Amino acid sequence: MNKKISLLWAVICVSILLLVLSLATVSANDADPLSPTEQLGKSIFFDENLSINNNQSCASCHMPEVGFTGPDSSINAGGAVYEGSIADRFGDRKPPSAAYATVSPIFHQDKSGLFLGGNFWDGRATGEVLGNPAADQALGPFLNTVEQALSDSACVVYRVCEPVPNYPVSFEEVWGAGSCDIAWPELIETTCATEGTTVALSSEDRTKSDMAYGNIGLSIAAYEDSPEVNAFSSKYDQTFGGKVKLNKEEQRGYALFRGKGMCHRCHISNGQQALFTDFSFDNLGLPQNPENPAGVAPDFVDPGLGGFLMNAGYDEDVYLAEWGKHKVPTLRNVDKREDADFVKAFGHNGYFKSLESIVHFYNTRDVKDVCPGDYTEAEALAADCWPVPEVLENVNTDELGDLGLTSEEEANIVAFLKALSDGYLSD
Ligand code: HEC
Ligand code: HEC
Repeated sequence: MNKKISLLWAVICVSILLLVLSLATVSANDADPLSPTEQLGKSIFFDENLSINNNQSCASCHMPEVGFTGPDSSINAGGAVYEGSIADRFGDRKPPSAAYATVSPIFHQDKSGLFLGGNFWDGRATGEVLGNPAADQALGPFLNTVEQALSDSACVVYRVCEPVPNYPVSFEEVWGAGSCDIAWPELIETTCATEGTTVALSSEDRTKSDMAYGNIGLSIAAYEDSPEVNAFSSKYDQTFGGKVKLNKEEQRGYALFRGKGMCHRCHISNGQQALFTDFSFDNLGLPQNPENPAGVAPDFVDPGLGGFLMNAGYDEDVYLAEWGKHKVPTLRNVDKREDADFVKAFGHNGYFKSLESIVHFYNTRDVKDVCPGDYTEAEALAADCWPVPEVLENVNTDELGDLGLTSEEEANIVAFLKALSDGYLSD
């Protein structure tokens, strides 16, 4: 190669390099970059190897594109419960959004005795272990036999630490050199691929592994608390910058949401950081979802908060007063989906398949006839009735059931709910 040509090549190579670098900077500036802990949590959140059959991650049931809930339209359209890593095993509840879960306070009772906070529909991830309900929550699914189904928390630690997963930021970079320094037994791969097994560790290594497992929970919670997940970037949020305005229909919906519809009483809607929940628990009298595999089991009812309190050893008069109550979910991203045909499910058991129908239920639960059987949402709408509540005790009749909204007013509320999806572009 003569000198001129090689010089030309050098110039071309350098310019390509510069171009690549500048593109990389532009894309990194697109959103707030994640901190190392948040990035680690993100890698863990999306890692399918952290399940017994290497086929399921947190994101499998909490996908960003659909507001961090279940990403399978056909599942949502039916039972709305997701299969675990082991085939044919299902939970009995619809995945709530994993976004905005970190802002829930630690589970507690206020002065008046009202239960508040925690994660899960029944609040049982209290936040008392790691100081944040979402961090406590994150330790559950890996070991839940109907979810990721690993049999020992040490397997999660091993798979995060050891075979050097393809994470941009490693566990030791965040939690300290040596934090993965554990003497793993030789057959750990087999042990972790088998149900009901325990990894044999010295007590010192067990302590280390437990510590690392807690830090895995904290890393996930850091990601869930990052601006990438709790984005506050919906059309509603952007109205506070002054550049964006809700249209007429959305404005009317917002007024109804706070007024005649009484939604604001539980889904608090004040200001840009509004979370659209007060973190309390209520029984709305949702019907059972007959397509939910648990729903078809004889006598199954979901006791919600009452069930958790019973298992936690509260007195009968305390837990019976909470029987059938579920946590008020955030309404942020409630409509978020990639295309209009995608079906989302609403409510703890996913009974409702559209925002129109759940708002119609709030409006008419106590007005329509009772369906003569376990009707699905579609059957109930066709027959113009609502089935009996899944749990008859503690049904809230003060704030919903007969709101007297016209169908136009129902539509306005739905229009407002659709303005709560993150990622709204203002230009
Ligand atoms: C097989 C599906 C599935 C997998 C896998 C899964 N989840 Fe969930 N998730 C659910 C369901 C169902 C619930 C509600 C369960 C309940 O209330 O008892 C839930 C609840 C949650 C909540 C509570 C939200 C709130 O507001 O209370 C968070 C946060 C969450 N999951 C995050 C995660 C993380 C982190 C992982 C991975 C470690 C994960 N999930 C794995 C299905 C799944
Ligand atoms: C008394 C408190 C209360 C009031 C008032 C209330 N909600 Fe709710 N909302 C809840 C609770 C609790 C749930 C979960 C119930 C369940 O799953 O059993 C819920 C669930 C929802 C869901 C499903 C979200 C999801 O992710 O599954 C939507 C949508 C919703 N509410 C919208 C509204 C609208 C619109 C109004 C006003 C017309 C309203 N709510 C009034 C407490 C309330």
